[in-house]
Amino acid sequence: MDVFVIEGGRKLAGTLRVNGSKNAALPLLAASLLTDDPVILRDVPDLSDIRNMHRLLGELGVAIESERENNIPTTRLRVVDETEHHARYDIVRTMRASICVLGPMLAKRGQARVSMPGGCAIGQRPVDLHLRGLEALGAIITLEGGDIVARVPQSGRLIGDTVFLGGPFGSTVLGTANVMSAATLAQGTTTIECAACEPEIVDLANMLIGMGAKITGAGSPRITIEGVETLSSIDHCVIPDRIEAGTFMCAAAITNSTLTLTNCPLDAMMSATDRLEAIGVHIDPAHQGTAIDPLRQTCIVSGSESLRPVQITTQPHPGFPTDLQAQFMALLCLAAGNSVITEKIFPERFLHVAELTRMGASIHRHGTTAVISGVKALTGAPVMASDLRASAGLVLAALAARGTTVINRVYHIDRGYEQLEHRLGSVGASIQRLSEDAVAELGLMSE
Ligand code: EPU
Repeated sequence: MDVFVIEGGRKLAGTLRVNGSKNAALPLLAASLLTDDPVILRDVPDLSDIRNMHRLLGELGVAIESERENNIPTTRLRVVDETEHHARYDIVRTMRASICVLGPMLAKRGQARVSMPGGCAIGQRPVDLHLRGLEALGAIITLEGGDIVARVPQSGRLIGDTVFLGGPFGSTVLGTANVMSAATLAQGTTTIECAACEPEIVDLANMLIGMGAKITGAGSPRITIEGVETLSSIDHCVIPDRIEAGTFMCAAAITNSTLTLTNCPLDAMMSATDRLEAIGVHIDPAHQGTAIDPLRQTCIVSGSESLRPVQITTQPHPGFPTDLQAQFMALLCLAAGNSVITEKIFPERFLHVAELTRMGASIHRHGTTAVISGVKALTGAPVMASDLRASAGLVLAALAARGTTVINRVYHIDRGYEQLEHRLGSVGASIQRLSEDAVAELGLMSE
């Protein structure tokens, strides 16, 4: 297993391009199952989660080719064999987002068998809302040997209906993706009430509309889908990753540096930029030319000598994203005063607290709330990455810490940030990827 060795205290300067969004790309890739025609997706990031999705789709009969066109990664997908319909435990256990294939496969192939995703480091993460939504469209669903087994009703197609997707923590992003994708090929009209409003859902709807689906209301809590007989080919560019952009903004802020971000989805990041401004970070959109795509802007992010404490509550979009909670907690460790973070999406998503504490942070957790008392400095230490975003928080803390931090298990980071060490290195960070053996030889403690 690789580790990151980070020397803290370096100023950053330069330009980073925000890559295509992992969480948009995963359901878009799965949507290729909905058509017999070729699908082209541009700006799909090269991440381990994406490679796992390629592997899964390959097993489900999708031929996939990836290449770079004009330096943008381009993925070509085409279904060549529809006989397989089993997403095996082997793959699903490596990536929960495998559940994205359930709706498309059920709607197009009439049946789907998907291993039930287990718990993960950030909490229990049930899929009851996905199943309830598909059942409302007539799917017959059973659980067999740990697999979700779903098939369409005798009529041979799913049947449109009104579906309520609200749960105890709000809507469900991938549940909305599953039901919306399945409903495109259903007979009649489906209305999703309490739909997730995330930009990734809008991106999926835009791709499906480009394929011939009839969808209105994506981005609002009510999405209406009028079913069609078939969907056809599409050439679609994935939206930039708002979580990667927010992580880079925190990198500028925690090192009191100035970074330029290109391909930045500022329009989808208001809650994050609002909190950064409150902390004292400046974000200036660089308006060039006339036609600005609000999801692909250039902006200059400048840190500040003194960071102000703030309150943050994670919420469904357009509220503050849970996927930036750990990164903001790392930043607030160095604010001048007490900050409060309340986690309302994944109540157990606090594994980074203990690791940040190892670096000198002062954080007290009470249930779903953490009180962060700012300290003057963090100190490098060996720490353990536990999940993707917690690990990103540790990288940020390490960039600002005095001395050397060794972050173990960086495979978590590779799930969601492409070549993070090279990209942060290109703007001045001292960050090296080493094997555990190399770390042992150098005498840097790794466990
Ligand atoms: N929930 C249920 N029942 C369900 C589904 C969800 O109770 O059937 C609960 C969850 O336990 C959670 C809340 O609803 O408390 C929201 O979960 P959601 O279903 O929206 O999460 P998800 O779709 O599985 C996506 C992202 C996550 C991100 C969440 C919330 C992908 C691949 N994953 O997960 O991203 O945290 O939405 O925004 O899109 C990450 O990138 O690090 C990551 C974890």
